[in-house]
Amino acid sequence: MEAIASLKREHRVMREVCKACRHELDRAGRCHVVDAAEIERFIEFFRFYTNSCHDPKEEDLLFSMLHHKGLAWDEEPLKSLCYEHDAMRAMLKAAAEWVPKARRGDQSALEPLCHDLLAYVDEIEQHMAKEESGIFVHALDVLSEADHDELTRAFENVDSEDSEEGAVEYYEGLAQDLTSYGT
Ligand SMILES: [Fe+2]
Ligand SMILES: [Fe+2]
Repeated sequence: MEAIASLKREHRVMREVCKACRHELDRAGRCHVVDAAEIERFIEFFRFYTNSCHDPKEEDLLFSMLHHKGLAWDEEPLKSLCYEHDAMRAMLKAAAEWVPKARRGDQSALEPLCHDLLAYVDEIEQHMAKEESGIFVHALDVLSEADHDELTRAFENVDSEDSEEGAVEYYEGLAQDLTSYGT
């Protein structure tokens, strides 16, 4: 149970950062000025926290365990969820490619950067909602107490490897920074 709760906790952090990112993109749209350094911090957060930490816990550990319990990789829901992980990485990369131009003050980068990042935020929010109403519920149904314990230990190993390098603390701190707008 704890393993699914920890993925949901990470979703809550990502949702808050998505909300702050929307706020920043909205501000940029209204003022016609993009704060490229700030946008880059959002991209940096998603790159580490979502792409390097959260998604691999799902794909390599949770989905993999569910696959061993009978779900096929090339059928729903695993097929779509893994496809969406890949698609979201590509969308984030597309947004990041506009940042150097935006940092140089090139106005032509503003619209595509905001457009691509907003598309990413829309996608990740939908993806998280889909996981919480689908695969997480399925996992709670089919996995045994021992399976959940095994997953929890595996997640803790991932976290402690990253923690040794100070990465988890750094990115949780970054999330707090990014979501403390208006306070
Ligand atoms: Fe996911
Ligand atoms: Fe997720």
